Amino acid sequence: MDVAQHDLLIVGGGLAGIRAAIAAAQEGVSVGIISKVYPMRSHTVSAEGGAAAVVRADLGDSTDLHAFDTVKGSDFIADQDVVEYLVNEAPKEVIQMEHWGCPWSREPDGTVSVRAFGGMSINRTVFAADKTGFHMLHTIFQHSLRFDRIVRYDEHFVTKLLVDDGACRGVVAFDLRTGEFRAFSAKATILATGGCGRLWAFTTNGFINTGDGLALAYRAGAPISDMEFPQYHPTGLPGTGILITEAARGEGGYLLNKGGDRFLSQYVPTRMELGPRDIISRSMITEFEEGRGVPGRYGDYMLLDLRHLGEERINSKLPFVRELAENYVGIDPVREPIPVRPVVHYMMGGVRTNIDGATSLPGLYACGESAQVGLNGANRLGSNSLTECLVFGARTGKIAAQRARETPDGALHALEAQAADDDRATKKRFFEDDTGTERIGLVRGDLQQVMENYVGVFRTGEGLSAARQEIRQLQERFRRVRLDDKSSVFNTELMGALELENMLELAESVVVPALLREESRGSQARRDFPNRDDQRFLGHSLISRTPDGPRVEWQEAVITKWEPEERKY
Ligand code: FUM
Repeated sequence: MDVAQHDLLIVGGGLAGIRAAIAAAQEGVSVGIISKVYPMRSHTVSAEGGAAAVVRADLGDSTDLHAFDTVKGSDFIADQDVVEYLVNEAPKEVIQMEHWGCPWSREPDGTVSVRAFGGMSINRTVFAADKTGFHMLHTIFQHSLRFDRIVRYDEHFVTKLLVDDGACRGVVAFDLRTGEFRAFSAKATILATGGCGRLWAFTTNGFINTGDGLALAYRAGAPISDMEFPQYHPTGLPGTGILITEAARGEGGYLLNKGGDRFLSQYVPTRMELGPRDIISRSMITEFEEGRGVPGRYGDYMLLDLRHLGEERINSKLPFVRELAENYVGIDPVREPIPVRPVVHYMMGGVRTNIDGATSLPGLYACGESAQVGLNGANRLGSNSLTECLVFGARTGKIAAQRARETPDGALHALEAQAADDDRATKKRFFEDDTGTERIGLVRGDLQQVMENYVGVFRTGEGLSAARQEIRQLQERFRRVRLDDKSSVFNTELMGALELENMLELAESVVVPALLREESRGSQARRDFPNRDDQRFLGHSLISRTPDGPRVEWQEAVITKWEPEERKY
């Protein structure tokens, strides 16, 4: 088996991964990017509303204000040193993107436009109409092509981290085109594989968001963290879950209940439609429960009314919203309100890293949504995510490259042997045993339903315990899956099975800390523990894999300047 060798490997070709690759290439190391999709299909492409950065201090903004908004948004468990680093670096990264060709939307006088976003106390989100992720990803991808020392392995699926002598030494992956397994050796490896929103049935996330990087790290012994905090975005299209960007409210859109009331006046009176996502999502569900939602085929929904913005503004600032509403629900927002309901959008949790992106496993790093660097706490503010990908992609890429430069070459034979073993074991499990009776599509569908039923906007201990039991049964069923496709060329059924295995592992890692965190904070709303408990839970869950399931420890949040206070808007 031939071994591909790089100084640094990056798993994931979205915004965080490519930003890390560029930072590393600038340090002079050779970089391999392994991605299960072609980079332009990475989930970054679907980001719509924008990236937060203090680029308009002339409007009264400041990095301290950005930091405070982020800390308050997190319900006070963001690590404040990490937040301060983000807000200070964000403007530089945004300007850097401009220099690389990102077409930020502008005012008539040429200054970069900033728009309002939920939980931000001032307009600070830069954007490219409402296709910001698309433009950022194209820009950064094209810039990465300038570096000969960045080599891409598109459409490769990583099955395992190679750990030798207590350190991560690369990965095993197979080429989807040929089915050929291979060892990829590296002196440092960065996971930048995005989130795992596909654990739920109703999500804005693409089919690829199955949490592969998190599962790889978790199995290799690096703890994951804060998995009990999935973020619900208030405005998904019923049925498909397609995102209707928060920018629609940032531009002035209203959320109305069945009676035509802007119901948020009862819940977030000072911010209304620009409250944080956790609070708005809870308000919507409460309205549904009290009979003020609009009944529909996929359950209750609310109305997102943009009519008062006028056709010209909708076309210039929200063209994609109009396109999506017309194509997917047959509604022209210039003339009619859009039906929307809360939808799983983002994972605050991820592989636990320090501010450098380093995990507890030497040689292994993570950045972007797949990492839990400490930025988002219990609730991320909209538009901090693209910024996180840039800021911590750059830092992690640079630091990991420095490690790679200082690490001597290791022997390859042990890695080769591990890859050969993984190749044999995977084929034996999925190709040689024909006795299974379970289908991956059915197990996956049932898992997504369990998460919908019990791990939603509101939870209870009873529901979470039931979820855990059902997930255990699904893990059992997974052991009996049978694949029809035994071929090696583009075997998407095999990839689906491996993704499902990752999802089943991660689902339990969401439910267990949610059960143990006996409080309500940010996106975790426990009906049986409705209050925040700073005495016991002012920090992060640290989740390790054991043969009996996830083990949870607690780690205090880093507080530099902002003491916890009651979170009111
Ligand atoms: O609504 C949005 O455009 C989402 C942005 C984000 O999650 O940061």
